[in-house]
Amino acid sequence: MKMVIEHLKFNTDTKMWPIIGYPMGHSSAAYAWNTFLVANNVNEIMWPVEIPVGGLPDFMSAVKTLGLRHFSLTMPHKAAIIPLLDEVDPDSRFFNSVNLVKIDKDGKSHGMGFDGYGNLEALRQANVNVRGMNILVLGAGSIVGVILQHLARAGAEKATVINRSYENAKTLVDKVKSSLDMKLEVLPFSKENLDKAASECDLIEQCTPQGMFGYKGDWEYLGFIDKAKPETVVLETIVNPPATTLVKKALQRGLKVIFGIDMMVGNKVEAFRFALGIEISPDQMAAAKKFMYRYFKLED
Ligand SMILES: NC(=O)c1ccc[n+]([C@@H]2O[C@H](COP(=O)([O-])OP(=O)(O)OC[C@H]3O[C@@H](n4cnc5c(N)ncnc54)[C@H](OP(=O)(O)O)[C@@H]3O)[C@@H](O)[C@H]2O)c1
Repeated sequence: MKMVIEHLKFNTDTKMWPIIGYPMGHSSAAYAWNTFLVANNVNEIMWPVEIPVGGLPDFMSAVKTLGLRHFSLTMPHKAAIIPLLDEVDPDSRFFNSVNLVKIDKDGKSHGMGFDGYGNLEALRQANVNVRGMNILVLGAGSIVGVILQHLARAGAEKATVINRSYENAKTLVDKVKSSLDMKLEVLPFSKENLDKAASECDLIEQCTPQGMFGYKGDWEYLGFIDKAKPETVVLETIVNPPATTLVKKALQRGLKVIFGIDMMVGNKVEAFRFALGIEISPDQMAAAKKFMYRYFKLED
């Protein structure tokens, strides 16, 4: 990934803020983060670092040796980091999803996840109020628990989860259902179930990596998008590319689409509050969003 860092201040005090995952070639998160770090005079620079599965213990030693203050995480490390941290936010531990760690002045590590915040903030920014909504969730991976939690807290009425592996979706829903004030349903993956759930829902949340840059595999059947009501909103969680095949299909249908970029930028308010005690302004949010839209050559 090519990074543009001329606008960043760089001196001997500058700390590295790695975002770790595997693979990382597709990751554009550092662009958004660096926009906010510069705007708030934080002398840290984020860049992507590939850490393979099993590499977290070595990485944690490096964090200590280098005296890092923060690091961020993406797939596949969001759950595996939890046992290696001194303190984890209870919800993030319950949903097995940490994507930011701060190291305090005593060297203690504190982890928290922000995907649920980002998802809901993207909806809010697009003026979508989920209160009373019936939602179709595609996928049942690490982000889905926290997304369901935030949708339920915002008053969503019902979510139907359809996932490639029925058992994984069932396990997730069984785990979260008693803690969420929302009707939850799991349906086996089939054209018929996708069609039916899409025709009844107000919002489709696409939470699988199908269509993601560098990922082998895309939606073989998208006919369910044709079954959706004209007012149904589609939220695609994939950041790169923004216009996945599912998004293109939804746009062809004239449906309102919310991009993964909006979710990625959306989590920064809470993430900055947690990591640095900094309040990001709406102007900074708008500037970062514009920057990312330009980077991906999208109209804002
Ligand atoms: N915009 C943002 O800020 C943001 C933040 C975090 C994540 N994301 C995106 O969210 C997506 C999901 O992330 P995650 O951490 O939840 O991933 P994950 O834990 O790896 O889960 C992936 C989910 O997708 C399903 N899946 C994978 N490949 C599939 C295929 N070929 N066909 C059908 N289903 C398939 C899996 O089904 P099985 O259960 O059958 O394996 C699983 O439910 C990723 O695309 C990621 O880029 C976006």
